Amino acid sequence: MRVARQLVEMVIAAAPQVIRGRVIGLGIAQAYVLIGLEAHPVRVEVTTTRGPAFFQMVGLAEAAVRESRVRVASALASLGVLLDEFAVTVNLAPGDLRKSGASLDLAIAVAVLTALGHFERSIDSGLQFCGELSLDGALLPVRGLLPLLEGAKRLGAKSSIVPRCNAAEAGLVRGMQVYLAQSLSEVLAHLAGERPLCLSEPTRFSPEVESEGADLSDVRGQPGARRALEIAAAGNHNLLLVGPPGGGKTLLARRLPSIIPPLTYAEAMEVTAIHSVAGLVDMRAGAVTRRPFRAPHHTLSEAALVGGGDVPRPGEISLAHNGVLFLDEFAEFRRNVLEALRQPLEDGFVSISRARARACFPARPLVVSAINGCPCGYFGHPTRPCICSEQRRARYTERLSGPLLDRFDIHCAVPPVEFRTLGQPSSSERSVEVAERVRRARFAQYARNGKVDGCERCNFELTLSELESLAPLGAESRRLVESAGRQLGLSARSFVRIYRVARTIADLAGSESIETEHTAEAVQARLFDRAPVR
Ligand SMILES: Nc1ncnc2c1ncn2[C@@H]1O[C@H](COP(=O)(O)OP(=O)(O)OP(=O)(O)O)[C@@H](O)[C@H]1O
Ligand SMILES: [Mg+2]
Repeated sequence: MRVARQLVEMVIAAAPQVIRGRVIGLGIAQAYVLIGLEAHPVRVEVTTTRGPAFFQMVGLAEAAVRESRVRVASALASLGVLLDEFAVTVNLAPGDLRKSGASLDLAIAVAVLTALGHFERSIDSGLQFCGELSLDGALLPVRGLLPLLEGAKRLGAKSSIVPRCNAAEAGLVRGMQVYLAQSLSEVLAHLAGERPLCLSEPTRFSPEVESEGADLSDVRGQPGARRALEIAAAGNHNLLLVGPPGGGKTLLARRLPSIIPPLTYAEAMEVTAIHSVAGLVDMRAGAVTRRPFRAPHHTLSEAALVGGGDVPRPGEISLAHNGVLFLDEFAEFRRNVLEALRQPLEDGFVSISRARARACFPARPLVVSAINGCPCGYFGHPTRPCICSEQRRARYTERLSGPLLDRFDIHCAVPPVEFRTLGQPSSSERSVEVAERVRRARFAQYARNGKVDGCERCNFELTLSELESLAPLGAESRRLVESAGRQLGLSARSFVRIYRVARTIADLAGSESIETEHTAEAVQARLFDRAPVR
């Protein structure tokens, strides 16, 4: 008891003017912060008292938010509002929610001005503020505006004021009035009813096909690998390419985006939200218009692949969501990095847990990986001998655990191309022709598989029960899969994957039902479960 009383007396002695001073005003402004892709409301409360100047902030603010007092004080000074005579206390409620980023600057500045009595009219409680301030009061763009506004809308915000630099991204949000401002002074003029801000214009979305001039007709020979690429693109199946050096694995994988249909609107919004949080959206376009193609180097860390950080950020697997994740030289990735892939490849999302924050990012890319059969590369080569010892080969393949390889629906051999084939003019199909077959197969899937969260579903997402009700296997097909499973020692997961691939092959053939030939080809696509990698 005595200790507590002493403490109170010490606090009063340290800041007598605050405790005994006159509270001049209270200002409140509504804002939202993102944790992962989820928006959380933050009530910015400010009190100002006359007395020795200080600017303190409470409410679990990260470094970037705490620094906002410098930016806010300077931006206000640029408008002629000096805080020299005021003790300013900012409370970010709720106090147990971790706040990061600089996007709360604008709400803090507005709340300070309200506390100082700068507005005669009260601010609409459904209006939320978002924007970073520069020292001269200009509004700077923020990351993650699309998921922030969509989340705020769901949580009841009716209108927003956001930086004009984010206009294109703001234009993607429907059902909410989004005002664009270039500076703090424009915001003040709007709130005072002097000069209303412009509303954002709807952003036009025009999807594009990723090609960068790379066409499938560049690849000579390799009919099996080309077919595997087509099936993978049609059903969004993960693909493993195995073969000796120089056979064209990298060449093939880089051409995969050219045969996948463009993003649908719902897919593009998901991709844009993730890229926006990572600060990767082109400000002028506002939305991501091409399917992502990510090809990280094999030295990347686990956090860079699956996401992480104190403030959770998406990793490569989420940045490639609805697109392609190309893991070249797959066996060279660190073991822990490869193992970290297993959960998202199965579940389609990544969950990042930190001491005070938990975030979830979608992660459903088409993963294409390329490997050699052994360290020297020539294991399984028809003419060149492999010079690796048994142990070296075992060490090499040790990294690729069975459960990981199991997650690739299609395992495809890419044998060396004969010089004779390379020397002849290309007779291979062009990407547009293959893309047309893929497009038709995808439409058949969309019509049959239904939507989840507004997004169409490809065959790779179907569960066994869904497959059985949507596309029952014939007796002959079932016998084929069962005997392949017995002979090759395939897992239950392999069974489901063969089933899905068979459905995609039937879709490419325009067939309503899965025929035996489709199942046989799907079984063939799993034969590398046994060789040459393992
Ligand atoms: N099938 C092919 N058609 C045309 N060019 C090819 C083919 N295969 C290989 N090439 C040529 O060889 C080069 C190397 O091919 P690529 O890098 O795709 O081989 P890789 O299988 O990925 O080899 P590594 O295992 O060493 O990574 C290509 O850039 C291309 O010029
Ligand atoms: Mg390569």
